[in-house]
Amino acid sequence: MALKISLVFVIFILAASMAALAEAQLGGLGNLLGLINLQGTVFCTLNGRIGVNGTSTPVFSNALVQLQCNGNVVSSATTNNSGVFSILLNPLQFLLSSLLSDCKVVVNTPLSSCNASLPSTGALVSLIQILGNTVSGLLNIINLGLTGFNFIPNV
Ligand SMILES: *[C@@H]1O[C@H](CO)[C@@H](O)[C@H](O)[C@H]1NC(C)=O
Ligand SMILES: *[C@@H]1O[C@H](CO)[C@@H](O)[C@H](O)[C@H]1NC(C)=O
Ligand SMILES: *[C@@H]1O[C@H](CO)[C@@H](O)[C@H](O)[C@H]1NC(C)=O
Repeated sequence: MALKISLVFVIFILAASMAALAEAQLGGLGNLLGLINLQGTVFCTLNGRIGVNGTSTPVFSNALVQLQCNGNVVSSATTNNSGVFSILLNPLQFLLSSLLSDCKVVVNTPLSSCNASLPSTGALVSLIQILGNTVSGLLNIINLGLTGFNFIPNV
């Protein structure tokens, strides 16, 4: 009798853990093996966007880029020599819908540090958009990008 009960128990535990595993793998955007990659490029222009001269527009390297949600800095990164920043987030900690509605990307280094003719106060600010997702093995990467920077004089 005792053996029968413990066997049932073992089967129950097995079934429960397999269900959890299946959910982890098939759970879509919120799964355990997911990653959110927020990436963008900051250009050294008054609006932070690419200029009329296209790829020859100077980039803003070494700029501190912050992810701010409801006014709080929740993550940050620095642009590389191509002006590119990348912020990786755990989808278990961030709800995609609130990233899009409550968060913004703020460049916290003044534009004057990449070009002395540009303002030394104010900041470039952009909202966030979904670009798509990349599946790599069991890893599902949700790619987020910028809607486009605007210069905000008093941040
Ligand atoms: C675009 O390139 C042309 C030719 O090199 C240059 O004269 C002009 O100043 C550039 N414009 C900007 C906004 O950088
Ligand atoms: C900057 O980062 C991007 C994205 O990771 C990469 O493609 C690019 O090669 C990097 N540029 C430099 C100069 O490191
Ligand atoms: C610096 O910014 C000024 C004003 O936008 C612009 O005219 C100039 O071409 C920029 N210099 C460089 C090296 O990009």
